Amino acid sequence: MRADICVGLAWGDEAKGKIVAHLAKSGNYDYVCRWAGGSNAGHTIYVNGVKYITHLIPSGIFFGVKSIIGPDCVINVAKFTEEIEYLHGHGFDTTLIKVSPKCHVVTDAHIAEDQATQNKLGTTAQGIGMCYRDKAARTGIRAESIEFLREYLWDEKINGDIICEGAQGFWLDTNHGNYPFVTSSTTLPYGACSLGFPPKAIRNIYGAIKIYDTRSGLDPDFPESLLDDPDLLAIAKLGEEYGNTTGRPRKVNWLNVDKLIEAISVSGTDILVISKVDILKKINKFKIIYGGKLISFRSIDEMKFKLEMIIMMKFSDITNIIYSNDPHKVDGL
Ligand code: IMP
Ligand code: MG
Repeated sequence: MRADICVGLAWGDEAKGKIVAHLAKSGNYDYVCRWAGGSNAGHTIYVNGVKYITHLIPSGIFFGVKSIIGPDCVINVAKFTEEIEYLHGHGFDTTLIKVSPKCHVVTDAHIAEDQATQNKLGTTAQGIGMCYRDKAARTGIRAESIEFLREYLWDEKINGDIICEGAQGFWLDTNHGNYPFVTSSTTLPYGACSLGFPPKAIRNIYGAIKIYDTRSGLDPDFPESLLDDPDLLAIAKLGEEYGNTTGRPRKVNWLNVDKLIEAISVSGTDILVISKVDILKKINKFKIIYGGKLISFRSIDEMKFKLEMIIMMKFSDITNIIYSNDPHKVDGL
């Protein structure tokens, strides 16, 4: 049994969905698995040129691969039902969807509480934090007790090759992120082992990042003043940087390479996939934050060269850096 993992190296929205879809389509995997989070996530997948968005169900479903919602995920039953109907309505085989009986159920009370207090942390108001709180307090409700979910429940040992689909990103991890402006689960590869495989089963770790940074929720590291910068606003417009789950405009900043280095290091990324390179080309501005300073380049090639120098010097085990513009596929993977 081998596990590959796709992890977000920033604040979510790094095109993990595209990468996992590309890998799932290869036919090399027996399962696609989500290991954490719930309907706070939003994965955009293109199948034959048609755009689909899911929040809970892993993207294996689009390619005939068994798709597992793991024991450390939290499930909103109404949202899950909606998604099943949406996928079934579009002709996908929803019998491939499996839910761990151990995952916890998000209740209406969790959602109401999150909605009432949302402004303090800028959450997605999906009741995620409250559900994980009750799980930790051992007062939560597990999926095994929900009649409607019975036909989807699956508690077998994963046997075969799997691709683990990350949700959110490094800086939203409950341990390593900018607490309390984080989500309530672990977004990092160590969390994927909650699916029930040992760390030594991990093979490749695909780290996903965009060529610029975005933040969809509240975060002191992304002040409102970023919205006044015309270049960053142009990136937001051209990159269509609006939340999939909330519709909120995302704050944009230049790629923070200091943070990227830490994320690569802790996640153990082997293969780095950098998306949306074309957006910087369109505004013809090329900048990174490195060593705490803003550095400008004259061209995308100059910027890529510097980036590769920094990354390859620090991480000799990175086997590949892939640039990807196309939202539909990842050439070179
Ligand atoms: P929660 O996960 O809804 O509690 O939100 C906590 C923080 O994580 C907020 O800043 C959200 O904006 C952020 N967040 C949660 N899920 C995602 C995601 O899928 N993409 C980007 N940000 C997210
Ligand atoms: Mg997303």
